Amino acid sequence: MKVEKVMVIGAGQMGSGIAQVCAMAGYQVLLNDLKPEYTDRGFGVINKNLSRQVEKGRMSEDQKKEILNRLTASTDFQDAGRVDLVIEAAVENMEVKTKIFAQLDEIAPAHAILASNTSSLPITEIAAATKRPEKVIGMHFMNPVPVMKLVEIIRGLATSDQVYQTIEDMTRTLSKVPVEVNDFPGFVSNRVLMPMINEAIYTLYEGVASKEAIDEVMKLGMNHPMGPLTLADFIGLDTCLYIMETLHEGFGDDKYRPCPLLRKYVKAGWLGKKTGRGFYVYE
Ligand code: CAA
Ligand code: NAD
Repeated sequence: MKVEKVMVIGAGQMGSGIAQVCAMAGYQVLLNDLKPEYTDRGFGVINKNLSRQVEKGRMSEDQKKEILNRLTASTDFQDAGRVDLVIEAAVENMEVKTKIFAQLDEIAPAHAILASNTSSLPITEIAAATKRPEKVIGMHFMNPVPVMKLVEIIRGLATSDQVYQTIEDMTRTLSKVPVEVNDFPGFVSNRVLMPMINEAIYTLYEGVASKEAIDEVMKLGMNHPMGPLTLADFIGLDTCLYIMETLHEGFGDDKYRPCPLLRKYVKAGWLGKKTGRGFYVYE
């Protein structure tokens, strides 16, 4: 199957990035969110990213316009009736995602593939909310999407080989590198990354060192581009907590228990960079 039209659900930090790279690769893209203010915010980020490319001489003003012309805002799931692929990037919550997939299944054409950008939730369970589990797959982009090369491709129990191949090929057209993984909580990326971030939060919680010191140790000592607490703020503390809860519940192992400090920050609405405050304060 040839993918031409893509719908991205959720115009947050991941959805806007996914919409941008799809439009840059020549796909017609619908960017959907609950309210026009949210899609406007997503378009604002895309516009800023493309303008930076123009300023750096990597893209002409005309190319930028062509890319923006391939992008359309949507606040109506009925728009899924004319796409070949949906990539869902709404919040990391099983109830929200299964509801979205059940709705999309009723609207999207029979041939359409339904992909989720979930960070950790089982693709098999999301697929079970539809009548087309063979056409449901995980397409896990990394943040910031325009920069990071990896896309983890996750097969659910029922995902067909043909659908897997279509998504692997489509990922390459985005100039990304697909890596195949099986459907287990957190896949590979967040099974390895998130316990490290959670442990860094415990290190702060137990008073082993200041937040700046913890980040500096990991940046200068391990050559990480960002310290783990800065990275947690960048990902979103709500997303980090959801992922830890998925690992904890999915494996039934207390080594994945989320740090109480992480819970406290999320309860306070300190979700990181996107809300202006997490471990650090952002202007
Ligand atoms: N959107 C688009 N482009 C961005 C960007 C953003 N949010 N942030 C930075 N960039 C671009 C910059 O424009 C710049 O581009 P050029 O080189 O083409 O000029 C380039 O990235 C480098 O940026 P900077 O020089 O400003 O800053 P930097 O060198 O510190 O790099 C970074 C920024 C790429 C974000 C780097 O700090 C980094 O790699 N951090 C770690 C990111 C990471 O680990 N991501 C994975 C998170 S986990 C995940 O995504 C999975 C999950 O499920 C939670
Ligand atoms: P975000 O909070 O920035 O954006 C989520 C967006 O989804 C919001 O704009 C929200 O209004 C919208 N939304 C919620 N319910 C919706 C619905 N029913 N229909 C349409 N839109 C809806 O979150 P994010 O960081 O972009 O994360 C989105 C997804 O991507 C999550 O599943 C997350 O786990 C995953 N992910 C996040 C990262 C990261 O670093 N933040 C990396 C990879 C994957």
